[in-house]
Amino acid sequence: DGSVAEQIRYINRRKQELNAIILAHFYQRPEIQEMADYVGDSLQLAVQAAKTTADVIVFCGVRFMAESAKILNPKRTVLLPEPGAGCPMADMVTAKELRRKKQELPGVQVVCYVNSSAEVKAESDICCTSSNAVKVVNSLPPGVPVLFVPDKNLGHFVARQTGREMILWEGYCPVHHRVSLDELMEAKRQHPGAVVMVHPECQPEVVAASDYALSTGGILETVGRLPDREFIIGTEEGLLYQLRKRYPDRSFYLVRDEFLCPDMKLTTVEKVVRSLETLEPKIEVPEDVRGRAYQALERMINLR
Ligand code: 13P
Ligand code: SF4
Repeated sequence: DGSVAEQIRYINRRKQELNAIILAHFYQRPEIQEMADYVGDSLQLAVQAAKTTADVIVFCGVRFMAESAKILNPKRTVLLPEPGAGCPMADMVTAKELRRKKQELPGVQVVCYVNSSAEVKAESDICCTSSNAVKVVNSLPPGVPVLFVPDKNLGHFVARQTGREMILWEGYCPVHHRVSLDELMEAKRQHPGAVVMVHPECQPEVVAASDYALSTGGILETVGRLPDREFIIGTEEGLLYQLRKRYPDRSFYLVRDEFLCPDMKLTTVEKVVRSLETLEPKIEVPEDVRGRAYQALERMINLR
C-alpha cells in the first residue's frame, strides 16, 4: 500500500531474495539508519564493505563511499540509491590537478582523504579517514614531504598532531567549514560545562576551541567513555539521532542550528525500494583505476 511499514517489509523480503545488505552512514536520515544492517563512519563502512559476502551492497551514503565499497569488493553489485548524492569536497580535487601537483613536487607522498573520487585515490599513495588520519601520516617514512588532499582543515589538524611537514590542498567541506568560532563560543555560553566534540573538517580555530576533534564513530565511542552528561556536537545532525539513541540519559546540543549535509539527505526509503527493485543505479569503477585505488585503500585498512 505504499506505507512506510509496507516499504520496509518489501525491503526486507527483497534483501533476502538478492542476498543484499544495507550499509548506512551516521549522517543518513533516522529511518534509513533504522533499516540498515550496519550504520557506521566512513572507515567502519569501508571495512564492512570489504569483508561482506553479500551479493548486493545498498550504500546509503554519498558516491565516494559507494565507490570505495566497489573498489574494495569488486565482485559485489554496489547500488547508490540516489546517483546524485556526491560530496562537494571530493569534487575540489581532480586526478588531473593532482597529477600536475605531483610533477611540481617530485618524491612527495600523497595522502588522500577517502572523501575523494576513485581517480584521485588511484593517484595517491595511501588513503585515510578522519578516524585514522593521524595514524596514517605517522606510518609514513619521515623526512619525505606529505601532500594531503583535499581537506585543508583535516590536513591542518593532522599536521598539528603529528608535527609533520604537510602540503595542504585548498579543499574543505562546505557543511563543516561554515561553523564559526563565534557560534561555538555562543553554544559554550549557553551550555557551560558541556564537553565540546567537533569533526576535524571544522576550521582550525573551531577545532582549537573544542575539547575533542573526532570522526563520527569516534564521537559516538568517546561519549560512552566519559562520565560527562552534556555535549556540544560539531558535526552533521544525523549523528545526533544515533547519539540520543545510544545515550538516552545524556544531553546533546548542536553547535549551530542548521547542520545538514544536503547530499546525505538525498537518500530516502522510496529510493532504497526502487534501487532494490531495479538493481540500479550501479556503481562501476574502470579496472585500471580500481586496481591503483585499491592499493591506496588497502594500505590504509591494513594499518588498523
Ligand atoms: P566520518 O569518517 O567521520 O564518518 O566522516 C565522513 C564525512 O563525510 C564527514 O563529513
Ligand atoms: Fe562531504 Fe561534508 Fe557532506 Fe561529509 S558532510 S559528505 S565531507 S559535504
